[in-house]
Amino acid sequence: MTRLRRHRRLTASESAREVRVQDLFENAEASRCFDLAGDLWLEVGTGKDSHILERSLRHPETLHLGIEQTRKKFEMMLRKAEMLNCSNNLKLLHADAIPAVSECFPDESLAGVFLLFPDPWPKERHAHRRLLQSSFLSLIARKLRPDALLEIRTDEPEYARQAHEALLEIKALQNLTGGKPWLDSPIDPENHVETLFEQRFRNEGKAIHYFYLKKTN
Ligand SMILES: C[S@@+](CC[C@H](N)C(=O)[O-])C[C@H]1O[C@@H](n2cnc3c(N)ncnc32)[C@H](O)[C@@H]1O
Repeated sequence: MTRLRRHRRLTASESAREVRVQDLFENAEASRCFDLAGDLWLEVGTGKDSHILERSLRHPETLHLGIEQTRKKFEMMLRKAEMLNCSNNLKLLHADAIPAVSECFPDESLAGVFLLFPDPWPKERHAHRRLLQSSFLSLIARKLRPDALLEIRTDEPEYARQAHEALLEIKALQNLTGGKPWLDSPIDPENHVETLFEQRFRNEGKAIHYFYLKKTN
């Protein structure tokens, strides 16, 4: 008999931190789900990494939303947010980002997006799920408002090449890496928050590709 995994019962404060797709639908402006004013930054594919939590603590004046499709990791993120005492400028969404980003955010509404090692899809038959490809990057570009930032990190050379080729076609995104397709190290080391996968790949001696882009008007 197959045993279905039941969702863990969330505590009251974890529930208050959860944003549902429905909440985003009902509130034309995602920032209304926070009951706070501020620019909205999105991280897609948080895994169980603390980058977006850390960023929310460093930038209390802005709003942060992390999206993760795996329920267990999403629940771990909620727990971590409580442990780090994150404020209500940090919310988490359990969803597949492909439809969620398309349907839940108005065009030109985001101040920034992080795609940090988002693609656990090495098999060719899963290639359509990859986020670092033209369709998803174009969607993100549409959701960014003028002057908003997009940061991408990946260890995989093939994903980096694919992302670079896709980004060249998106005229609304301007590369901030001085003519290089990507950088080999963070653009602003002092403010850089390393992720779990980044640490793991660095320890394995892998090269990391850092992309920094800005939405033009
Ligand atoms: C390789 S992990 C990286 C986690 C973290 N960003 C880090 O750097 O340590 C990629 C994560 O992205 C999530 N992910 C991939 N595609 C996604 C999608 N379409 N929607 C939401 N999450 C996604 C996966 O479930 C996984 O947890």
